[in-house]
Amino acid sequence: MEHVENVNDGECILIRGPANIEVKEGRVTVLGGTFDAGEHIMIPKGKTLSLKACTSAILRIVSSSIERVKEDVPSQWRIAVEELDKVEKPAVVIVIGGVDTGKTTFTVFLGNMALKKGLRVAIVDADVGQSDIGPPCFVAMGLLDKSVVDMSKVELNDAYFVGSTTPSAYPHRMVTGVKLMVEKALMLGSEVVLVDTPGWISGFRARDLIISLLHVLRPSIVVALQDNEEAEGILKAFSSSEMHIIRLPALASCKRNRETRKFLREMAYRKHLHGGINVELDINKVSVAYTTLFSGNTLSSDEERKVSGILGVSPVYAEASFDTLTLVLPSYVDVWEKIEMLGLLFKGREVYLLREESLENLLVALLDKRNRYLGVGILKKINYATRKMLLYTSVPPDKVATVLFGSVKVAENGEEMGSIQLHKVKV
Ligand SMILES: Nc1ncnc2c1ncn2[C@@H]1O[C@H](COP(=O)(O)OP(=O)(O)OP(=O)(O)O)[C@@H](O)[C@H]1O
Ligand SMILES: [Mg+2]
Repeated sequence: MEHVENVNDGECILIRGPANIEVKEGRVTVLGGTFDAGEHIMIPKGKTLSLKACTSAILRIVSSSIERVKEDVPSQWRIAVEELDKVEKPAVVIVIGGVDTGKTTFTVFLGNMALKKGLRVAIVDADVGQSDIGPPCFVAMGLLDKSVVDMSKVELNDAYFVGSTTPSAYPHRMVTGVKLMVEKALMLGSEVVLVDTPGWISGFRARDLIISLLHVLRPSIVVALQDNEEAEGILKAFSSSEMHIIRLPALASCKRNRETRKFLREMAYRKHLHGGINVELDINKVSVAYTTLFSGNTLSSDEERKVSGILGVSPVYAEASFDTLTLVLPSYVDVWEKIEMLGLLFKGREVYLLREESLENLLVALLDKRNRYLGVGILKKINYATRKMLLYTSVPPDKVATVLFGSVKVAENGEEMGSIQLHKVKV
């Protein structure tokens, strides 16, 4: 629906995407970025934003939902802008809070405000489930070289693979990724590095992750967005320290449901898989990690005969290393009750079972020779006989030195296809 809205100086409107806004007359601000007559603002489906007129303005808005609101962002959010002014640069600011409290909106707001003051700003997006800068499953970093209305407009500079859309799956990779991305941003000369985090803050393990992040980053400011006292359990861990904590109200937000979150993730996968083609990698020439596959040696023919004898079927692929035995099995066999015997044969090793098709469409990260992020890919097929891996990616295959296996499955069009669990069998 198209609306022409006359907005008075200081008035605010909340607009839900998908939307297109044209400033016909006057000037508006969106999260600290300004737009003048003739400029357009696009809001993707699944996102919402608020704008504030700084003169009387006329807007042409194409959106199914617009609403007049009292303020564009909670007025207390500006306290953080003043505090940021006071701290020594370079400054690292971490934003924590529960789901949908406005962490990402706040991060963009503070980033735009810092940019306006002439500071060099970087954003580290650690929300692996609702990634804006990188593909989902990655902690990503981008430099804010112009103001943005939406974090997904920040161009990716570097990324670190976590491998799951759930931070609880690999918290140690989250900590590593955030630390590396912050260091990179500082190394590039950023004066302000803003870290946006996932909404997983409740419960012991979630607290543990955030507390570790705060220990490793030693941020200049911690911003906690909360409605009730959701973040206090974390903040109490710093009650006697000198950590500079700013508690701010959460957005009176529009909660996003599971479908919207999935839609946004799929859009992000699609963006980073764009331009992909099928490429082949030689397993003998690349390193493979975050899987037990290709970490050892194929079995001797005697061992293989014994394994086939125990299972009653030949594995598609079998490999043993000092500490693991990995078997890729045809999809139709059920061997669970025979596992104990395998354990006796390969004493002291962890046994991993994989169905042949379970790795198809697995999301992978591609790294160069110095373990730097090159891009994302989808594992289409492994030919165990020729030791070739077929991938869908836009990364030139000759640059790839390492392939990291993730635990989510994604189609070439970005559609999510579930996740895999590596079945470790205790013997
Ligand atoms: N001024 C506003 N008022 C109300 N809602 C808004 C406003 N600006 C943005 N929103 C919407 O509120 C929701 C939550 O905002 P945001 O994405 O910033 O929260 P978040 O804490 O980062 O969420 P997540 O936990 O998913 O990362 C989003 O749908 C966002 O589009
Ligand atoms: Mg967010």
